[in-house]
Amino acid sequence: MTEANHGLIAITGAAGLVGTGLRQQLRERGYRLVLLDRKPLTDCTDRETAVLVDITDQAAVTRHLAGCDAVVHLASCTTDAPWPEQVTLSVEGSISLFEAARAAGVMRVVYASSHHVVGYHPRSSVLDERAVLKPDSRYGVGKAFGESIGAMMAYKYDMRVLAIRIGNVNTKPIDRRRLGNWISWRDLGQLVSLGVTHPTLRFEVVYGVSDTTGRDYDNHAAYALGYRPQDRSEPFETEVLAQDPVPAQGSAQALAPSELTKGGAFSDNEFTGSPERLLP
Ligand SMILES: NC(=O)c1ccc[n+]([C@@H]2O[C@H](COP(=O)([O-])OP(=O)(O)OC[C@H]3O[C@@H](n4cnc5c(N)ncnc54)[C@H](O)[C@@H]3O)[C@@H](O)[C@H]2O)c1
Repeated sequence: MTEANHGLIAITGAAGLVGTGLRQQLRERGYRLVLLDRKPLTDCTDRETAVLVDITDQAAVTRHLAGCDAVVHLASCTTDAPWPEQVTLSVEGSISLFEAARAAGVMRVVYASSHHVVGYHPRSSVLDERAVLKPDSRYGVGKAFGESIGAMMAYKYDMRVLAIRIGNVNTKPIDRRRLGNWISWRDLGQLVSLGVTHPTLRFEVVYGVSDTTGRDYDNHAAYALGYRPQDRSEPFETEVLAQDPVPAQGSAQALAPSELTKGGAFSDNEFTGSPERLLP
């Protein structure tokens, strides 16, 4: 499939924040969409079909994926909720989705991972896709599971899988930390579209960031696929630093896990002991 021949793409979690913005991006690129969510969607265009379904219902998801060219898998636990919720939504949900896709013959999946899979790396480090996983939260562990099953599906069952470690998708970087992991809506649309059309993709992990050159991530794996971000975080730097200045050296804020690492508030949550172990 190419962008030009207007494929049929399913999106799980389509009623959420990312799903809502991505729908518009993919519609503008000419795709037709099947929108899967357990929340009702009432604003469908004539290029979209909404389906009320829980992604853990593998048989139902299999039926609804029939005839699709690819699936963009967004539905998961999106907070640092207790383990049972992570397991149900992010682990069992991803197993169900990938197995349903395989059963339906939909052999291309774009998986919404998160930078929280590497959230306990020092903020000052520049990571590429080979970085050791250091999830900062139960949420990050759940997202890492999806990357693992994606790799297994790609190599064992001949699927084509792009895992995008999304930073923060928004109209602009909202604070100092997000200068290093922000992605604009149109850049996310471009990356997802690459994932569903790239002819030789097997399994790749890329960072879902706009052009944040010199900051948190070395996204050469995405550039190798043809990604050319249209937006840069640098023009927002002065405005962001005025609202969110660098904390004084040695201050409590400067030594907090949220400041030392890429994960922000997730890194602080339930943290015990000395933050020194997080230093480079
Ligand atoms: N928002 C961001 O900047 C960001 C950053 C990194 C990663 N992500 C990832 O992108 C994806 C979407 O995030 P979001 O911000 O839109 O989250 P969200 O919470 O706004 O949306 C998630 C959607 O998934 C649906 N959902 C959850 N469990 C479901 C189930 N069992 N069956 C059917 N639908 C279910 C929810 O109803 C909701 O509409 C997630 O996988 C998240 O980890 C988002």
